[in-house]
Amino acid sequence: MSSLTGSISRRDLLRSTLAVSASTLVAGSVGRAHALLANCPGADYFGPASAEALSAVAPRERLLFDFGWKFFQGNGADPRLDLDFGMGQGDFAKSGEFKFATDKFDDSKWRQLNLPHDWAVELPFVHDEEQNSHGYKPLGRRYPETSIGWYRRSFDIPKEDAGRRITVEFDGAFRSALVFLNGYFIGRNDNGYAPFRFDVTDFLRYGEKNYLVVRMDASFGDGWFYEGAGIYRHVWLTKTDALHLEPWESAVRTEVRGESAVLTLGTIVRYEGSDPESCRVRWRIVDGAGKVVATADSPVKPIGPNGFATFVTGANIANPALWSPETPYLYSALVTVLDDTGKARDAERISFGVRDIKWDADKGFFLNGKSVKIKGTCNHHDHAGVGAALPDRLQWYRVGVLKDMGGNAVRTSHNMPTPEWVEACDRLGMMMMCETRLMSSNDEGMAQLELMVKRYRNSPSIILWSMGNEEWTMMNQPQGPRVISDMIARTHELDPTRLCTAAVNTAFETHFPEQLDVMGFNYNLNVIDDYHAKHPKQPSVGSETASTVSTRGIYSTDKLRNWVSAYDLNHTDWSEVAEEWWKFYAAREWLSGGFAWTGFDYRGEPTPYGWPSINSQFGIVDMCGFPKDNFYYYKSWWGTEPVLHLFPHWNWDERFGEPIPVWVHSNLDSVELFLNGTSQRSQKVQPLTHLEWKVKYAPGVIEARGMKNGKVVMVEKRETTGKPEAIRLKADRTEINADGEDVAILRVEVLDKEGRVVPTASVMIDFKITGEGALLGVGNGDPNCQESDKEPRRSVFNGLAQVIVQSTRTPGTITIEAHTEDYPPPHLPTTKLVLTTKKVELRPAVG
Ligand code: GAL
Repeated sequence: MSSLTGSISRRDLLRSTLAVSASTLVAGSVGRAHALLANCPGADYFGPASAEALSAVAPRERLLFDFGWKFFQGNGADPRLDLDFGMGQGDFAKSGEFKFATDKFDDSKWRQLNLPHDWAVELPFVHDEEQNSHGYKPLGRRYPETSIGWYRRSFDIPKEDAGRRITVEFDGAFRSALVFLNGYFIGRNDNGYAPFRFDVTDFLRYGEKNYLVVRMDASFGDGWFYEGAGIYRHVWLTKTDALHLEPWESAVRTEVRGESAVLTLGTIVRYEGSDPESCRVRWRIVDGAGKVVATADSPVKPIGPNGFATFVTGANIANPALWSPETPYLYSALVTVLDDTGKARDAERISFGVRDIKWDADKGFFLNGKSVKIKGTCNHHDHAGVGAALPDRLQWYRVGVLKDMGGNAVRTSHNMPTPEWVEACDRLGMMMMCETRLMSSNDEGMAQLELMVKRYRNSPSIILWSMGNEEWTMMNQPQGPRVISDMIARTHELDPTRLCTAAVNTAFETHFPEQLDVMGFNYNLNVIDDYHAKHPKQPSVGSETASTVSTRGIYSTDKLRNWVSAYDLNHTDWSEVAEEWWKFYAAREWLSGGFAWTGFDYRGEPTPYGWPSINSQFGIVDMCGFPKDNFYYYKSWWGTEPVLHLFPHWNWDERFGEPIPVWVHSNLDSVELFLNGTSQRSQKVQPLTHLEWKVKYAPGVIEARGMKNGKVVMVEKRETTGKPEAIRLKADRTEINADGEDVAILRVEVLDKEGRVVPTASVMIDFKITGEGALLGVGNGDPNCQESDKEPRRSVFNGLAQVIVQSTRTPGTITIEAHTEDYPPPHLPTTKLVLTTKKVELRPAVG
């Protein structure tokens, strides 16, 4: 029996493939342009060809284990309300007596649900200041009745599976998982972000029903932001031969040399059979069109019972297509284990990209030989309506919003991301600073770090590993440099192609920051020049900046209503407005760019207020991804398209005759403003700056005309609208996959009778969803809205709301109807939108 524990032990990891000493870091450069791939969200980018190729060669199955779970809210204080778990001393005294994980247990009263699932987002809010980081959700030791969740799933294992190795894998779950199978305790995992897995081969009932139970305990947190609760990422059941590839050990290291890419290919094979065998590993490198462009076979190696063998070989790709945010070209490697008869015993596909990165202390960051300024945002992992349990498609949506703003990078603050976020970045073209949660060289910290590096080192989007964030106590103590240098050394062993940083907001004069390959500045613009002068050889990046605050669609700060004006004027006392930090970074070639706090609003940290605000106001877009006005500041100076954005709205009847500040974000040459056809003068655009007028309010039309090379090239208007008269529903896609996973993201707009969005509208709307889909969640971006994320109703906030609808696995249509008649006026006519769900090949899943 193998001894895989939840977090892989350090001893196992020392065997890791391609581990080298930290000597050769990244160098070299080439410039090449390639056409952007049509990376369609939701499509299988690698095409059926690679899936077929894999199933043809080896008997590995990787089954999605998300559907058909039962859920029960336990209790952390009273065992009688927690399935009697912990009633006496003896729960763990015998090895297989956990009845709740046997056929003797009746779960018929438990709730049925699919994963990913976050029970925290379903809980009511509590007015308890201790809970503000968690978005006022009742989680933690003081809330035992809402901090424990039990998940149960019965499933069949066919007789024919006897002899295979079978593993349950969790991509991450919050938090403190205890896993039981068929009455047996299987293992535990004690953090909320790293993946964990258990080999359950010995505990399965072959040819019979099996019972898997997971107890999640969110009594402790890992962070100071909304973290969710439950199995909020995917679960998998993997079946392999006894001779199999070790998970996350297959690594493709690429180096661009002249006109080719030199690939170093490494993996570890594990053997859990009884008679000695020998095997080799075959690599087939497949391009984006499914064509094999290189192959390599390793030499044959003997492998004994319960043994490991490491295989390293190499290959070349001639004229490789290089990965970049503009051309996110991906290759895949089909890795096959062949035994001494030539039979394929196991195989997997990993995707990778070829690109060259370099960090320079004087000139900043280089991608494929070209200087690239990092235009990044930090992001937490939750979204409106779903909390931390995002369907894969939402990851694509979120990356799309940030790309549309001109962003080219994200930081996974402050934890290891879900695989689908990394994949969306790989495929859509978004660079990533990938951060581990625990800055520590203790076993837990190292295990989290090692899992992160191994799990994601093939992802071309990742350009920098972050060892963590703002450990202000440790950084200032002698332990700090020791801990961080251990972490960095281990990261370099596992991945010598990338550099390491940490997000530093203190201890600038100590030895701590000197340990970092790339200095990461959090805020503190006043120390950056001085630090650089004293450390001229250390590259640097703004690991966290901005913390600008604003409420979407609000134009005067109102402390009684917890609103912050959306003009770029407000920030915390440790930070800056958008225009200030970006001018600072843009002016210094040696600063590689930075990551604004934050791209999206997130639950918790309701800065600058407290209750009743339940989410942060730091986002450049709100919880739904609706842009605030600063979005267009960034789009003007980060993006490549012409931008002309005019604000505020023009519904100020209560301020008739008063001067209203009118701002424009634009990257054109000049902008002329008109009120009801009368010029308010033209102004020249100064780079990295906004334009501002004061205009005495009169209802009508405020209009900006943007000039480029002496010609009007763009016009933007804000019109005084009438009152709410209609609802419009718009979906990001009107056809989605009938796979039980895909979602349509609906924008709900309240319009006046001329079809213009009423920018101040607040109208409660009921949503009725029928057909082959169900409501997944609702939101409106209002940081102070305590309406349920899960009920089929939501008020629009400043004219907008969001509804997320998920398909079933039966093709058909989904009808979404919006009604207002059950609420006080205005009563708007019922509106309907019909979506189609199309038949697709379903991902292999546990039945
Ligand atoms: C930073 C911290 C972030 C967030 C931010 C708010 O210091 O790293 O997690 O709390 O402040 O401004």
